Amino acid sequence: MCGIVGYVGVNQAAPILLEGLSKLEYRGYDSAGIAVREGKEDPVVVKAKGRLRVLADKTDNGKAVHGTCGIGHTRWATHGAPSESNAHPHVSNDRSVTAVHNGIFENYQEIRDKLLRNGYTFYSQTDTEAAVNLIDYYYKKYKMGPIDAIAKTMVRVRGSYALAVMFRDYPGEIYIARKDAPLIVGAGTDGNYIASDVPAILQHTRTVYYPDNLMMGRITADTIEFYDLNGDLVKLDPVEIQWDASAAEKGGYEHFMMKEIHEQPRAVADTIRSYLKGDPDKEDALLSVDLGKIGITDEMLKGLKEICIVGCGSAYHVGVTNQYVFEDLVKIPVRVELASEYRYRKPVLDPETLVIIISQSGETADSLAALRISKEHGLKTLAIVNVVGSSIAREADYVLQTYAGPEIAVATTKAYSTQLIGCYLLAIGFAVSRGTMQAHEESELLHELLTIPAKIQKILEDKERIQWFAAKFANAHDVFFIGRGIDYGICLEGSLKMKEISYIHSEAYAAGELKHGTISLIEDGTLVIGVLTQSELYEKTLSNLVEVKSRGAYLMGLTMSGNFDIEDTVNFAVFVPKTDEHFANSLAVIPLQLLGYYIAVSKGLDVDKPRNLAKSVTVE
Ligand code: F6R
Repeated sequence: MCGIVGYVGVNQAAPILLEGLSKLEYRGYDSAGIAVREGKEDPVVVKAKGRLRVLADKTDNGKAVHGTCGIGHTRWATHGAPSESNAHPHVSNDRSVTAVHNGIFENYQEIRDKLLRNGYTFYSQTDTEAAVNLIDYYYKKYKMGPIDAIAKTMVRVRGSYALAVMFRDYPGEIYIARKDAPLIVGAGTDGNYIASDVPAILQHTRTVYYPDNLMMGRITADTIEFYDLNGDLVKLDPVEIQWDASAAEKGGYEHFMMKEIHEQPRAVADTIRSYLKGDPDKEDALLSVDLGKIGITDEMLKGLKEICIVGCGSAYHVGVTNQYVFEDLVKIPVRVELASEYRYRKPVLDPETLVIIISQSGETADSLAALRISKEHGLKTLAIVNVVGSSIAREADYVLQTYAGPEIAVATTKAYSTQLIGCYLLAIGFAVSRGTMQAHEESELLHELLTIPAKIQKILEDKERIQWFAAKFANAHDVFFIGRGIDYGICLEGSLKMKEISYIHSEAYAAGELKHGTISLIEDGTLVIGVLTQSELYEKTLSNLVEVKSRGAYLMGLTMSGNFDIEDTVNFAVFVPKTDEHFANSLAVIPLQLLGYYIAVSKGLDVDKPRNLAKSVTVE
């Protein structure tokens, strides 16, 4: 979605803004703009439709725009088509106020009408222009300072927003406000920064403030202040970001997605090791899950009646797989919900339900809403989140942080893998606490879990086989993924990876469902990928593969080493190392990520920024 960067300090702002925006390109956008001012002069606003490169060319990489205070934006069109006039920054009628905005002002039409009645005019179709003029209206009508004018606007608007605002009368100052959309402030040595996401400013500082919801801020070259809605000063403590700048670079890989696929052994290992008690490097150590680290007590778990896992997209798929894992290990009812459905469905849940919200970004609008609704119903909430300081991480009762590091490619890989690990750890810890698993079984499972990173590495070393197979199917029209149980969860993710980056239509089916309709779509040469990692279900899914083969399907079979007889049935077999079957997803998903990636590359597609998609979906 949209990106925001701001800088005020001693250096020329425009190159810093453009460089920061380039770090947010992965989020998806269709136009960009900057507003930069020198001292008391009016801001110079430059915008361009299309890639950031166009804006960089227009401004000689920012060098042609003078001034040390500025705000920049990459826009993902919501209100009004992608165009230069709809691009941000937007300015008020007499240019007193200039602002950029992420999010949506839902009642913007009402605000426009009010402003039209008061003599304002509009040059764009955006909701943002309405809000900028509303700030201007209050600022002048009530002769308020910037903070009070913004606060009054915040009370009047509905929706979600991260705003960065400059006032003509306040040179060298940037004002910010946020509600349900991320915005951070970075403290630098040569000035201060604002951004909608950490990678944009990581090159300059790792000392970051996370303003709370409905908070405002005033940023100058050497001061950072925060205010609540009453206009009172609020003290915030900075957080040191552990990610280093190179984590947001491609590091020699052609695409972020490939780099992130290769980071999985590290990301998975870091996440496992962060929640273990006992020495993970000693073969005979008694290992256990450190639930205390997330504040979960035996007492809280004893009373638990149900678990409800909520997420969107891949995070939801992590939930589907782990429904099987939790039910099998913890023997507790588990339901899995799409956040966008859950939030509007009035689900009937036992008061002793734990709601687990899974989110990489911690800002997905539907997942955040699901979390808030759960809390309103008095349910306990636990978030599995990658981004520290994100809204979901701050608002959940308990947080299990994943250690994927910054994920730049739109299609998730390493964050997904660490979310799986987060769930396994919870399931094992819960099982011991509730008496459905013995301590020695826990330790054995955890030792096995510790072997997963090396096994992922082994799969990655054989990636050329998948590359070869991908080349054969780059022109496929439809692909079907079939599996049962945990394998169905794997199929859902494999299918999403395929369609989102290679634009090939694909569907995931619980293998037993094929006969109930979908099998009529199988034609000569249709690629069907069977996932068969669960020994109890192996023969069942194999029979489903035979059924589609006899209708002309071309078969790829994905299973664990040892099931060599699969080669009698399928045309192309992929084996992943053996592991405990609860953890099979962590290995089987790797060849499917590679398959989606290589097909997209062989079609010459923009792998890291697939069309119509954004990295973090902060609007409904
Ligand atoms: C797919 C993908 C998305 C996200 C979904 C949730 O590759 O990345 O489906 O998983 O948008 O995002 P988060 O985890 O940030 O809540």
